[in-house]
Amino acid sequence: MNFKIAVLSGDGIGPEVIQESVKVLKAIAESYKHEFQFNYASVGAIAIDETGNPLPDATLDVCKDATAVLFGAIGDPKYDNDPSAKVRPEQGLLKLRKELGLFANIRPVTAYNSLLDKSPLKKEIIQGTDMVIYRELTGGIYFGEKKLSEDGKTASDLCEYSQFEIERIAHLAFKAAQTRKNKVTLVDKANVLESSRLWRKVVSEVAKSYPKVTLDFLFVDNAAMQMILNPSQFDVILTENMFGDIISDEGSVIGGSIGLLASASVGDGVALFEPIHGSYPQAKGKNIANPIASILSAAMMLDHFGLSDEAEAVRQAVNKTIDKGIVTKDLNGEAFVTTTNIGDIIAGTILNREDTCEY
Ligand code: IPM
Ligand code: MN
Repeated sequence: MNFKIAVLSGDGIGPEVIQESVKVLKAIAESYKHEFQFNYASVGAIAIDETGNPLPDATLDVCKDATAVLFGAIGDPKYDNDPSAKVRPEQGLLKLRKELGLFANIRPVTAYNSLLDKSPLKKEIIQGTDMVIYRELTGGIYFGEKKLSEDGKTASDLCEYSQFEIERIAHLAFKAAQTRKNKVTLVDKANVLESSRLWRKVVSEVAKSYPKVTLDFLFVDNAAMQMILNPSQFDVILTENMFGDIISDEGSVIGGSIGLLASASVGDGVALFEPIHGSYPQAKGKNIANPIASILSAAMMLDHFGLSDEAEAVRQAVNKTIDKGIVTKDLNGEAFVTTTNIGDIIAGTILNREDTCEY
């Protein structure tokens, strides 16, 4: 089959991890006889340097014309400590999410048996973790009205949600739960926030259409604690934009490295696949970044294309590599391999010629 993939590598380690996912996708194309066309376009700080715009129109056109977008990472330290910067790399990603209508960000969190001792958390706690976070992605405080007073001494960000925005992601979360352990946990702050109370009301209503699925509620402060006290209690976590951003980084501690967590952002049209980690500027150009989050995001893209055998082949090759103890620096201080090694080994496993891979 033929697929057009927009490739937005972005900043920092983005290009390095994307190079490995593309390598893996090419291995899939070769073994399963597919045609993947990769169309590269710039986004983030690099796009600001080139054009002054973190999401140039040409990039948006490439994305809209694609079957899916493979996204690296964005962000550059030169903007982080400059609160007065008018144009920021992150605006590129936020605008892209909005323009493509990517209202649901799906972030699976699992514990790999062979990596149980890599997490700072106790083995007994993380063993058996298998949850997926459904994070709302185009609403809430990220996109509400922003104000800064004339004198620069008062600022506000509005957190707003409509029934429609809540319903559409709630349906996706319940549908996912039906294929998993039939449990949805809504994470909110309904004891304080009006918007959270609307979430509870709307999600409770949606739940009636899914009688087999149990719906639980957790306040976000408690959820943050439960995530690392007893993560295996969770199946599907449903939450608003900012809470989802925060608890998914927390979830990465369970797997041992944020460099393992993939995500899919879906909506009504073109979907986008990106690791949950950022641009990790300190590692840029050093060939030490973990490309697995990006490679697993590519596997989620294959699932989205309906290519489930191919997606499974990628996941199996990843598991095999990790199980052999072949990991990047984030997971093994001493005996680590490089970013490109990992991509070569996973692609080689897919092509069934892992023995020819040197590392
Ligand atoms: C993420 C990132 C982004 C977010 C940033 C880069 C805007 O942290 O995808 O989790 O906050 O959504
Ligand atoms: Mn984040």
